[in-house]
Amino acid sequence: MKVCVIGAGYVGLVTGTGFAETGNDVVCADLDAAKIAQLEAGETPIFEPGLLPMIERNAQAGRLRFTTDVEGALADAEIIFVAVGTPQRSDGAANLSAVDAVAETVAKASKRECVLVLKSTVPVGANARVRKIIASAGADKIHVVSNPEFLKEGDAVNDFMRPDRIVIGCEPDDDFARELMRRLYHPLSLSHDKIVWMEPASAELTKYVANTMLAMRISFMNEIAALCEQVGADVNDVRVGVGLDNRIGPKFLYAGPGYGGSCFPKDVQALIHVAREYGVPLELALATDNVNQRQKGVMLRKLKQCFEGDLRGKKIAIWGIAFKPRTDDVRESPALTLIDSLLAEGAQVSAHDPEARAHARARFGDSIEIPDRPYDAVSDADALVLVTEWREYQNPDFERIKAAMRTPVLLDARNIWSSYGLSGQGFTYRGIGVQG
Ligand SMILES: NC(=O)c1ccc[n+]([C@@H]2O[C@H](COP(=O)([O-])OP(=O)(O)OC[C@H]3O[C@@H](n4cnc5c(N)ncnc54)[C@H](O)[C@@H]3O)[C@@H](O)[C@H]2O)c1
Repeated sequence: MKVCVIGAGYVGLVTGTGFAETGNDVVCADLDAAKIAQLEAGETPIFEPGLLPMIERNAQAGRLRFTTDVEGALADAEIIFVAVGTPQRSDGAANLSAVDAVAETVAKASKRECVLVLKSTVPVGANARVRKIIASAGADKIHVVSNPEFLKEGDAVNDFMRPDRIVIGCEPDDDFARELMRRLYHPLSLSHDKIVWMEPASAELTKYVANTMLAMRISFMNEIAALCEQVGADVNDVRVGVGLDNRIGPKFLYAGPGYGGSCFPKDVQALIHVAREYGVPLELALATDNVNQRQKGVMLRKLKQCFEGDLRGKKIAIWGIAFKPRTDDVRESPALTLIDSLLAEGAQVSAHDPEARAHARARFGDSIEIPDRPYDAVSDADALVLVTEWREYQNPDFERIKAAMRTPVLLDARNIWSSYGLSGQGFTYRGIGVQG
């Protein structure tokens, strides 16, 4: 099938490459010329495990192309995916300007009957809004469906190729769109039919509800972590004890520095915003967001406790800048909030990340050190904060760390080292919801 994906970011690249992998003829179009040039040169502008070899394989086979010519790319496509960004506006709502712009371009440039698929995360009503844009441009052969994406960065290729479910919001009588979507997704649905059909508004809402539910679990456990610290309990034990209940399950129950990334923070906010517009207060979503905002300050509060409230002139080493391991994405990362606060407090920062150093350099310039090796960040540090639990940080040489530091203070925002007995080895150790 002829597929065009507009927006070659974390979602668009994986989507386009995934559909090329199942034999489709795919072109990924993006306005960002630097990104397209990188892709054409055989590089990937994002770090996503397993993606590069898949891009190379499909590009070499002639099934995957990249272009900045959006109109040319979509003109002849049977299925056009919109995978552009929908960032947060200052009032919390999703900014749909890129989606609107693409809808206008598609209405103008599409030359055949086709399906326009909203893959970007868009609030309830966006599908109807896009239909309106297309209708008012006089285009009458474009079928609009909503197909939210549930992949997670760091495991995106696997999530895309082996989805738990494929949600498609489609008008019940739109047989043309149904048939094309069913055929396109058939190879990802071979073991059993994974497509869940619904009205577009339900599909739009499903994405926000899923992300808000996951964010809510994290915020709840972060609140429980604060309680654990007060009552002498261990949030890791509580997590395991609770998560083994198969009505609850073990995932997204980890206390930490607050959730970040390009999705949870903005999607929770956007859901709150939409609900407010419809006069429905979402108290739990609001609390989820409030708890998370507070949690993003937890590491700074703990650091200040270790240094009698004064971080001026202290050198703080940070391990992990990306919002989670196995990605270079730093959007809304708790590490950024921490670094901003430390600089405002007059501390010096030396931060390492295996993959996100370029993004950190672009964000912080010369105001922090960003060494290439993790132990270099620790040299002469007054404290080391583990923010992102990359595997390479999980079992480090603690003797080497202690020897390199000025004062041996370890702040473990992921509770990775909590069972190592570090307090007994000459460190001041603090986790989240665990006893020192
Ligand atoms: N990143 C994730 O893990 C994830 C997961 C599920 C859903 N989503 C949703 O998918 C959407 C895309 O997210 P992302 O993380 O891939 O964003 P991204 O910022 O990585 O990529 C978006 C791309 O769209 C391009 N673009 C913007 N306007 C354009 C236009 N008019 N024409 C062509 N290209 C244009 C940008 O240059 C950019 O490369 C968002 O709505 C997001 O909420 C993201």
